[in-house]
Amino acid sequence: MEARTETQTATETAAAAAAAAAAGTAAAATAGTAQAPSFAAVQAAEYPDVPAGYLNTAALGLAPARTVAALRQALDAMAAGRPDVDTYEEAVAASRASYARITGVPVERVALASTVAESVGLIAAALPRGAEVVVPEGDFSSLVHPFAGRGGLDLRIVPLDRVAEAVRGRTALVAVSAAQSADGRVADLAAIREAAAAHGARVLVDATQAVGWLPLRAGDYDYVVCHAYKWLLSPHGACFLTVREEAEGTLATGFAGWYAGEDPWRSCYGPIERLAPGARRFDARPAYLPFVGAAASLSLIEELTVEAVRAHDLALADRLRTGLASLGYAPVPGPSAIVCATAYPSSAPDRLTRAGIGFSLRAGSLRFSPHLHNSPADVDRALNALA
Ligand SMILES: Cc1ncc(COP(=O)(O)O)c(C=O)c1O
Repeated sequence: MEARTETQTATETAAAAAAAAAAGTAAAATAGTAQAPSFAAVQAAEYPDVPAGYLNTAALGLAPARTVAALRQALDAMAAGRPDVDTYEEAVAASRASYARITGVPVERVALASTVAESVGLIAAALPRGAEVVVPEGDFSSLVHPFAGRGGLDLRIVPLDRVAEAVRGRTALVAVSAAQSADGRVADLAAIREAAAAHGARVLVDATQAVGWLPLRAGDYDYVVCHAYKWLLSPHGACFLTVREEAEGTLATGFAGWYAGEDPWRSCYGPIERLAPGARRFDARPAYLPFVGAAASLSLIEELTVEAVRAHDLALADRLRTGLASLGYAPVPGPSAIVCATAYPSSAPDRLTRAGIGFSLRAGSLRFSPHLHNSPADVDRALNALA
């Protein structure tokens, strides 16, 4: 009994030390000092129970401890008959502000959504009949299908590395993922933006596989949509849409409900008299609990900084790519935090599963996606399983 208490105390002390170290790290990062964040300390504080080998953030990001605690608290209050709308609203506002800072836009440029597909549907619905939309081959269906499903548009599907050159005078919109779900390739957004500007086309970026590890200035594009349940470590249902001020007039508010009102609580009945200013008029009513989680998760990304997360993730991804190449698994070249092996023996998925590795099979490849909770040991475990 005594020994158990001692162990518990030691564990608690270690956890408290790790939390303090993480907080110190975070404070240093926020203060802009040269001190590099200690991922080991953050991992000890925020991911104390995650077993080794989860390399699957491109499928689903793991909630840090602070997020689990915030959600638990909200659920406990609900179970006790005290659902707290003020807390939910604070979390929604904090999530929106945090996402705005992470993507470098003023907060009034950020609308709330629940899925990528619904935001893309809003954009697709607003295009005139016959408009040409350029998308990459094999991009994620939530980005592509709303254009196909709407009907009456001219959808041109071209290889990812040809998107910029495919833009022409009659192109109305280019829609592209910043990083591809299927193989991790990163789009040449600068070239796409330049081509679109030269031809008067608008640009929609799906940043779901990017924001959180890849620095991205959302204000550089007409529309950016990002579901936060991967690299932003949030629950499903916390999704963001930024709309550039000049592009605001291109969208109708056909999906707007009471939450898109200037004062949502005075917009509950009949047509909304005054829509919210800025992109908030495109808000879908937020699923409260996912945003309770998102506020906490986004605070961790901000404390660490996307630049530091990028360096951490890419170092792990490079280690994995080098190891896969030496085993003959033909990884798709980087740099990207998503690593895909295109040539592998049929036994590979089973070997990885038996070794407890979190990975995905996507478009015929083995897909790995290390993030801030991972260390080189996770990568080596996967490589050992494959050797
Ligand atoms: C690039 C990309 N966009 C969007 C999504 C999710 O889309 P939705 O929010 O419509 O479920 C994913 C999920 O894997 C994705 O990889």
